[in-house]
Amino acid sequence: MPALVLLGAQWGDEGKGKATDLLGGSVDYVVRYQGGNNAGHTVVVGDQKYALHLLPSGILSPGCTPVIGNGVVVDPSVLLSELSGLNERGVDTSKLLISGNAHIITPYNVTVDKVTERFLGKRKIGTTGRGIGPTYADKINRVGIRVQDLYDESILQQKVEAALDVKNQILTKLYNRRAIAVEQVVEELLGYAEQIKPYVADTVLILNQALEDNKVVLFEGGQGTLLDIDHGTYPFVTSSNPTAGGACTGAGVGPTKISRVIGILKAYTTRVGAGPFPTELFDEDGEALRRIGGERGVTTGRDRRCGWFDAVIARYATRVNGLTDFFLTKLDVLTGWEQIPVCVAYEIDGQRVDELPYSQSDFHHAKPVYEMLPGWSEDISKAKTFADLPKNAQSYVKALEEMSGAPISAIGVGPGRDETIEINSFI
Ligand code: GDP
Ligand code: IMO
Ligand code: MG
Repeated sequence: MPALVLLGAQWGDEGKGKATDLLGGSVDYVVRYQGGNNAGHTVVVGDQKYALHLLPSGILSPGCTPVIGNGVVVDPSVLLSELSGLNERGVDTSKLLISGNAHIITPYNVTVDKVTERFLGKRKIGTTGRGIGPTYADKINRVGIRVQDLYDESILQQKVEAALDVKNQILTKLYNRRAIAVEQVVEELLGYAEQIKPYVADTVLILNQALEDNKVVLFEGGQGTLLDIDHGTYPFVTSSNPTAGGACTGAGVGPTKISRVIGILKAYTTRVGAGPFPTELFDEDGEALRRIGGERGVTTGRDRRCGWFDAVIARYATRVNGLTDFFLTKLDVLTGWEQIPVCVAYEIDGQRVDELPYSQSDFHHAKPVYEMLPGWSEDISKAKTFADLPKNAQSYVKALEEMSGAPISAIGVGPGRDETIEINSFI
């Protein structure tokens, strides 16, 4: 029965990898349910740092079975290189399970992603260029290639032909690029088939049986709520559903099985790529957050845009995900500010607005209404309990909790597994 969802409450990079890894020791399965290798999840274990893109962060916990669910898009070359990279560092990856229904990011999907962005020019989304959008588009258009297709050569051939029929027209006639040969793609994909085969499984059946047996299953989201294709800042979003509902469709588990939904929430805000961001800073405070917080993309190496905490977004995340808890991360980064502004509402065309505006045009005009909270200067990285935090840090956390609409059950005070204050236990 105990299924938990752990997801990003902002625009990604909230520290989901660290939080998942922390819980990994107490859960039986960690399941990615959407996205692909656009994710960059950093896990620090002792003096070792791991950057995971496609694999669930639970792969680093020996007792835990990592699962790539049907809702994920899988680039086979990335999968194999991530696995061999971990094996070289002594990590056992043999328990990994991959859904046969997961869609494959083909080389042409990566090409289409890059070409489309170039074609959009200054209207581009700023994607990670990993082929995510085009692969989900193929899935919806019913011309996608699934993991199971790797094991039926004639079907694979027909499907790649169908997908490339239209794409080659677009690539050659619209984008002035060379056509992609069907044979070449089929050959490349078949080259991965045998190496991936041992991992392919009926993950829906396995996960539901595990839940029947009272095993603990943790669903690890990629990206974040505001990057959700339905609930995010469309069109500046990713092409999947990182929000809680995505865990059900992306893993084949019913909503009645989910008992806890944990939103990972940074103590300030960051964003990578284009799109609106009301609390974004363009001054030395923004620069300081980037420097102190190490806000550089794990996947693309781009500098992250930085800004103050936005409670309107946190409330929205509580609502659309049905959050039961928050895990507040990177509180330590805010040490040293005399006063810390927190956005409590927006001003849109002269009106105060307390909730995320329904209209995207309004959101583009939203100006943050700030409340100033007193800062602290003491080093908090060694704090083990809430009481160890300086009074002003405690008040900052309490204020965020009140504004955000769900209890803050854990606080990150550093990147390491043990640099965490646990307030309410998750399992
Ligand atoms: P994810 O995509 O949500 O997994 O997050 P990323 O790994 O992309 O970015 C979060 C970064 O913050 C990583 O470098 C983590 O090691 C680091 N991190 C996570 N939690 C904390 C924390 O509480 N304090 C500090 N200082 N760093 C943290
Ligand atoms: P994690 O899991 C932050 C952003 C991209 C771009 C938009 C669409 O590490 O939090 P895509 O390649 O998905 O089509 O790009 O989404 N984006 C992320 N931003 N963290 C991520 O993942 C992201 N994955 C995608 O920068 O704006
Ligand atoms: Mg990340």
